[in-house]
Amino acid sequence: MFLLAVHPQWQVKAREEVLREFPDGDGGEAPSADVLGQLKLLHMVLLEASRLYPPFVYIQRRAATDVVLGGIKVPRGTVVSIPIAMLHRDKEVWGPDADEFNPMRFEHGAAKAAKDRKALLTFSMGPRVCTGQSFGIVEAQVAMAMILRKFSFSLSPKYVHKPKYLLSLTSKNGMPLIVKNLDG
Ligand code: HEM
Repeated sequence: MFLLAVHPQWQVKAREEVLREFPDGDGGEAPSADVLGQLKLLHMVLLEASRLYPPFVYIQRRAATDVVLGGIKVPRGTVVSIPIAMLHRDKEVWGPDADEFNPMRFEHGAAKAAKDRKALLTFSMGPRVCTGQSFGIVEAQVAMAMILRKFSFSLSPKYVHKPKYLLSLTSKNGMPLIVKNLDG
C-alpha cells in the first residue's frame, strides 16, 4: 500500500490490470486462481515490495559442522545472521537502482531479476524455504486486487517513514492513508 501510494503511476497500472483481468468483481468477490495467474504486474509489484521491505529482515543459522563460507572459516556452533533486507539492496547484485522501486526488474521472474538467481530471499531459500510462500503471495494478491478495484489511495501528510522490526517489518507510526472510493 505504501509503495503504490508513493508511486501512483504503478497504482494506476496495477488497477488497470485488475479491472481488465477481473471485470466481474463488482460484488466484492475474491478473484479466482485463474484471474490471479493473469495479474502479472501485481505479482511483480509484490515481489518488488518484498525486496525493498522484506517482512523478515534477517534470518539466522547455526553451523552444524566447521565450514568455510566465502573464504571465512566458520566453527561449528557459530550463529550466522543472513541480513535479507541489506542483501536486497546490494547494488552489485541488483544494479545501481537497488534502492528504487522498479517492479520491471521482475518482468522475467524472480530468478532473472538480479545477477544472482538466488538473490531474492524474502521467503528464504533451500531445504528450509518458507512452506507458505505461494499462499503468502496469493493472500497479498487477493487483498490488493480487491482493494485496487474499489479504492485509490495516497499517503496522508501524517505519515512518518519509520520502518520498525518487531517480529516482522512494520511501520512504527502506522500507515495513515487517504483512501477514495472509486465508485464515487
Ligand atoms: C509474506 C508472507 C511470508 C513471508 C515473507 C515468509 C517468510 C519466511 C521466511 C524468511 C522463512 C525462513 C525462516 C528461517 O529459516 O529462519 C519462513 C519459514 C516458514 N514459513 Fe513463511 N513467510 C510468509 C508466510 C507464510 C505462510 C502464510 C505460512 C503458512 C501458511 C508460512 C509458513 C512457514 C513455515 C512452516 C516455515 C518454516 C519452514 C522450515 O523451517 O522448514 N509462511 N517464512
